[in-house]
Amino acid sequence: MNLLKDSFGRKFPYIRLSITDVCNFKCGYCLPNGYQIDKSDNRTFLNINEIERLTKALSELGVCKIRLTGGEPTVRKDFFDVLKVIKKHSGIKKTVITTNGYHLDKKAQKIKESGLDGINISIDSLDRETFKYITGHDRLPEILEGIKKLQELNFKNIKINAVLLKGVNDKEEDFKKWAEFIKTNEVDFRYIELMQTGDNLDYFNRYHVPSSKFVNYLNERNWIFQTFGKDAGPSKNYINTNYKGKFGVIAPYSKDFCKSCNRLRITAKGDLRLCLFGNTGINIRHLMQKDDQTEELKDLILKQLNFKKESHYLELGETGLTKNLSTTGG
Ligand code: 5AD
Ligand code: SF4
Repeated sequence: MNLLKDSFGRKFPYIRLSITDVCNFKCGYCLPNGYQIDKSDNRTFLNINEIERLTKALSELGVCKIRLTGGEPTVRKDFFDVLKVIKKHSGIKKTVITTNGYHLDKKAQKIKESGLDGINISIDSLDRETFKYITGHDRLPEILEGIKKLQELNFKNIKINAVLLKGVNDKEEDFKKWAEFIKTNEVDFRYIELMQTGDNLDYFNRYHVPSSKFVNYLNERNWIFQTFGKDAGPSKNYINTNYKGKFGVIAPYSKDFCKSCNRLRITAKGDLRLCLFGNTGINIRHLMQKDDQTEELKDLILKQLNFKKESHYLELGETGLTKNLSTTGG
């Protein structure tokens, strides 16, 4: 039973849990200068015991899907142990991650063995130079190799995300490359429209392009719009019988984007965030310290949900507490 409901009738079976702010990439739209320690906040990241207690509470509240994000979640030394403690809770039917794919070729085997239920990999471009330009790292080959390995191991539910950037990866030629890729690969590819955050205003002004550019490309071809599942992410998906994979678009500025919101976020330092761009967020970590705090923790999360607003106000240029997405994992 899902107990997490807000005052607008939305349900929340899906939690995005960041387990570290640290990231080893330098994506221009997120951490152009790489990860910097926040000197004004010396709190550590949630430890594995806190994560386990949190997971128990969430699972009792009816959460059935947890996405581990970062920063880059796999940079945590105990990453696979964290996965294990989450998967111990049978209510959590799906544990998935969002990763930048760093060393994916080396990690593929362990990922398969861990029982992970899905992986979202960020690949902003299939062109090696462009990839390097956007992320600051020449790592496209190891990521593609990692995907190949996962597929050979019969790992299902691979998704790829790219942030759509004007003049960088938004040409028909870029779209065609992805179409070729998903023609033979059972992988879902989605473009995310660039979001404005507290830190990236200049970048945003320079590179933002409406996702309709890609949607028009799909509509002009034989791609058919598909409807959502209950714990589905925010992507609008398109299918085509000639292709093994699907295309998708995540358009946070679109009208009604928030109506289908079904997720809450918890930061690596234990703040509950009701919305990626909301100003509301409180620390719930003090209730993850002892095994007998589960009921209190559940109560606090339930109470907080009443404060969730109907929508973000991104279109007004309000970015809330979000300086960049590395602390909340996109
Ligand atoms: N706008 C859109 N997507 C972003 N991501 C990070 N920052 C932004 C932004 N400003 C994406 C990453 C990754 C996911 C974690 O969030 O590319 O796919
Ligand atoms: Fe790291 Fe992801 Fe931010 Fe890129 S978008 S810098 S991979 S946290």
